[in-house]
Amino acid sequence: MKKTTIFADKNLTIGKVRPTLYGSFIEHIGRAVYEGIYEPDHPTADGDGFRGDVIGLIKELNVPIVRYPGGNFVSGYDWRDGIGPKDKRPVRLDLAWHSTETNEFGTDEFMKWCKKAGITPMMAVNMGTGSVKDAAELVEYCNHAGGTSISDLRRANGAEEPYNVKYWCIGNEMDGPWQTGHLTADEYGKKALEAAKVMRWTNGETEKDAPNGRLKLIVTGSSTHAMMTFPEWDRVVLEHTYPRIDYLSMHRYYEYSEETDNPLEDFLGAADDMNEYINTLRATIEYVRAKVRSKKQVHISFDEWNIWRQSAERTEPLWKRAPHLMEDVYTFRDMLVFAGLMNTLINNCDIVHVACLAQLVNVIAPIMTEKGGGTFRQTTFYPFKYLSNTARGVTVRTFTDSDRFQTMYGGARSINEAVNFDPETGSLVVSLCNYSQEKREVALELRSFGELKAEEYLEMTSGDLDAVNGFGAEQVKPIERELPAVKDGSHVSLVLPPMSWSYLRFRA
Ligand code: AHR
Repeated sequence: MKKTTIFADKNLTIGKVRPTLYGSFIEHIGRAVYEGIYEPDHPTADGDGFRGDVIGLIKELNVPIVRYPGGNFVSGYDWRDGIGPKDKRPVRLDLAWHSTETNEFGTDEFMKWCKKAGITPMMAVNMGTGSVKDAAELVEYCNHAGGTSISDLRRANGAEEPYNVKYWCIGNEMDGPWQTGHLTADEYGKKALEAAKVMRWTNGETEKDAPNGRLKLIVTGSSTHAMMTFPEWDRVVLEHTYPRIDYLSMHRYYEYSEETDNPLEDFLGAADDMNEYINTLRATIEYVRAKVRSKKQVHISFDEWNIWRQSAERTEPLWKRAPHLMEDVYTFRDMLVFAGLMNTLINNCDIVHVACLAQLVNVIAPIMTEKGGGTFRQTTFYPFKYLSNTARGVTVRTFTDSDRFQTMYGGARSINEAVNFDPETGSLVVSLCNYSQEKREVALELRSFGELKAEEYLEMTSGDLDAVNGFGAEQVKPIERELPAVKDGSHVSLVLPPMSWSYLRFRA
C-alpha cells in the first residue's frame, strides 16, 4: 500500500480562518427564494413566510454570511421593485434566467430572513442596467438612519433601524457577455470606482471611520480562469479601483464531463487547479499593489464556487415563476471534489477572506426542498457542515510527500489535505481526500500541538461514484470510524479507503 506522510507544525501557520470563509449565496433564480427559503403556505413557514425546516438546515451548515440577490439576476434588477406593499410590487421579466419575477421577496424580506437565520447579509448592486446613483441609494435605504426620503421609505416599510449592511458586491461577472449590461474591464473599472466612492460617501465615510462602520467593497474579478480576458480583466479593474475597495471577487464552477480525455482524473484535479487560480490572482493583486504604490492589502472574495453541470439542458418553459432550474443532484464523486475545493479555500485563508458556496437552496445547492413537502441533504452538505463548524482558528501549513496524478490542468495530489487548529479551544481538524483508486496509508505527523487525543473520525466512502441522496433517502453520508491511536502524542497512522473523504478531530 502506498504511504503518504503529512507534517504539520503548530508554529507554522498560513493564517486566520475568518467565519466568512463559510458563506453562501441566495439568488433570485429558479426555486432558491420561492419554494426554497420563502414559501408562505408551507407547514413550517413562520408569519413572514420563511420555511423553518430550511432555516434549521442552514443553521446545521453554520453559514455565517449570505450574498444576495444575484448573480446574473442583479444586473437587470431594480431594488425599488422589491420594497413596499407586496400587492403594489411590479411583476417583471427576469432576463438573466428567462423567468417571471413577482418581487414578493425583496431587500426588507431578505434582511428579516437574515436576522432570523443568524446570517450577515452581503448585498450586490446592479452595475449592468443600474447606475452609480441606484447603488448609492440602496446603501442609503439600508444604512442611513432616517430623515431623508429614501431612508424614511425603509422606516415606513417597517424597519425603523438601519440594517448597517457592511459587505457590498459592486456588480456581478461584468466580464461575461452573458451579463445584462456587460462591460469591458476599462468601462467596468471606471464605473466601479465611481460606485465605490459614492457608496462610501452615502455611508458617511470620509477619511475617518463611518458612524455605521466602513463598508467592505468587492469588485468583480474574472468569472472563471477560462475567460480569454483573465487575468488582464483583474489587473485593469484593480488598477482603477485599488485604493477604494477591499476585495477582488473570484468565481469558479467545476463539472464532471465525459467529454475530456480522462474524465475522472480531470474532475479530481479541480482542487489543485483552484489553488493555481487563486495563486494567479494573488500575484495579480500584488502586482497592482506595487504599481499603485499602496500599503493596503486587497483580499479575495471567492463569492461563487461549487460543482455545476452547466451542460445540462433547460427543461422548464420560459417565463415561469420559480421554475425548476439548475437543481443538480450531487453524486458521491461530486462530494469528493467538493471536499477538495473546501481544502483549497482553507489552505488559502490568508488571501481568501470571504467565500460563498453558490448556492444554498435548490439551485446547485446542498439543501433541496419540495413544494409543500420535505427537504434533503445533498452529498456535499456533509463536508461543508463539518468543516464550517470546526475548521476554524488558523490553517496550519502542511508538508506532504503525496504522489501526483495527471489531469488536464497538470499534476494533482492523490492525497489532498487541510489542517486547522483553534488555539482557543485546542481543537485540531484534519480533512483528507483520497483521490486514488487504491487504499492509501497516511501518516500524520502533528508536531508541537502537545498531547493529542482523537475525538471524532468520520469517513465518506462508496462503491458507487454515482450514488446520490434524495427525499427520504440520505444514504450518502459520513460513517463513524473507530478513533485512531495517537502514538507519542502526535503520530497518527490511518488507512484511507479508495476514493474517500475523511474528517478527524483531535483535542490538544
Ligand atoms: O450561480 C449561478 C450563476 O453563476 C450566477 O448567477 C452567476 O453569477 C454565475 O455565472
